[in-house]
Amino acid sequence: QGYMKEFGTHMMAWAPLAEGRNNFFTNPVLEAIGKKYGKSVAQVALRWLIQRDVIIIPKSVHVERMQQNIDIFDFDLSQDDMAAIAGLDTKQSLFFDHHAPEVVKMFMGWK
Ligand SMILES: NC(=O)c1ccc[n+]([C@@H]2O[C@H](COP(=O)([O-])OP(=O)(O)OC[C@H]3O[C@@H](n4cnc5c(N)ncnc54)[C@H](OP(=O)(O)O)[C@@H]3O)[C@@H](O)[C@H]2O)c1
Repeated sequence: QGYMKEFGTHMMAWAPLAEGRNNFFTNPVLEAIGKKYGKSVAQVALRWLIQRDVIIIPKSVHVERMQQNIDIFDFDLSQDDMAAIAGLDTKQSLFFDHHAPEVVKMFMGWK
């Protein structure tokens, strides 16, 4: 992200709600933080990305969730909460390992 900023470009979340994987919407850390602010897990996650200057395009087929997902501009996560969420990082992509030769070949259309 630091390098991207240097060139005036921005990072965008691949899936800002992690596609709901790994019981995302019942994650206890996100739930506890959400309770403090009166916000849902989805709202906490999206706010975390916004505060990190990451572009988000959350997807939902439900109108009430779409409304919820845009209602994230009336609160600020504290530095402690930001750090607690960062602590959830497993250092492993939920999707692809972009350094794996097989994945690179697939994305390059070489197989
Ligand atoms: N992930 C990828 O591989 C990929 C690749 C290229 C582009 N994109 C684009 O990135 C955007 C987002 O990615 P994504 O759709 O893969 O994943 P995402 O936005 O991280 O997650 C979408 C999932 O979260 C659920 N959801 C959304 N808001 C919710 C809320 N407030 N409470 C509870 N559940 C909620 C949706 O269910 P409901 O719809 O049932 O509400 C859906 O199952 C999309 O526009 C997509 O086209 C994704």
